Amino acid sequence: MKVIVDTRENIARLAGDLYSELLAQKPDAVLGFATGSTPLDLYGELIARYNAGQLSFSKVKTFNLDEYVGLEPTHDQSYRYFMDKNLFEKIDLDPANVHIPSGVKIDDETIARYEAAIAAAGGIDMQLLGIGHNGHIGFNEPNTPFGSLTHKVTLTDSTIEANSRFFASRDEVPKEAVTMGIRTVMNARRLVLIALGEGKAQIIRDTVYGPVTENVPASVLQLHPDAYIFADTDAAKYL
Ligand code: GLP
Repeated sequence: MKVIVDTRENIARLAGDLYSELLAQKPDAVLGFATGSTPLDLYGELIARYNAGQLSFSKVKTFNLDEYVGLEPTHDQSYRYFMDKNLFEKIDLDPANVHIPSGVKIDDETIARYEAAIAAAGGIDMQLLGIGHNGHIGFNEPNTPFGSLTHKVTLTDSTIEANSRFFASRDEVPKEAVTMGIRTVMNARRLVLIALGEGKAQIIRDTVYGPVTENVPASVLQLHPDAYIFADTDAAKYL
């Protein structure tokens, strides 16, 4: 695990460099994207590099980590909408190459097809991750089996509480989601986890120094052969 501590601005630039290097070598790379407030600076960086003619996503395939159950793609809190507005509509990605779990077709066959689509694309070259205060990655809450593939989950109260800031009221936050599993994430050839702000300090300590345990989903990154953790100085306070 490579832990890099820097300012918020430098993290966006350094993580952006990983995308530039990968796409220079492999223009048709398969990229795993994430939502939440954390990746927004990086998405801004990728858009800026695209606008400057330094990056092209025209041959890239994308797979997102997760989606809320019950939200249509047009719902302004769906992760599909988030990705469209914050990245996909601003770069030269082919919409046919975008994959996000459906929040409305949640039968077992559709969920299994998501996993199969990742495999058919040749696997994910680089998966971006945020981290929940409880250590969740994607929507894999504590005690999700490390062997899990894409599946439907019931969100914990703490995640519903944390994410209620994006909704008009707590009651509007979906109670379930579809997420790549821990094994799906670990199968990516490179992982890039970003953590910003003091609120993530304790869980970053547990992720980096704590035991590898299903109780802290992100601790599994210790077992990945090519995982980066970028933490700003606040999130790295206990390292
Ligand atoms: C949601 C997403 C996670 C994300 C987390 C953290 O729960 N499903 O993938 O890591 O939010 O969000 P933020 O980056 O806003 O702290």
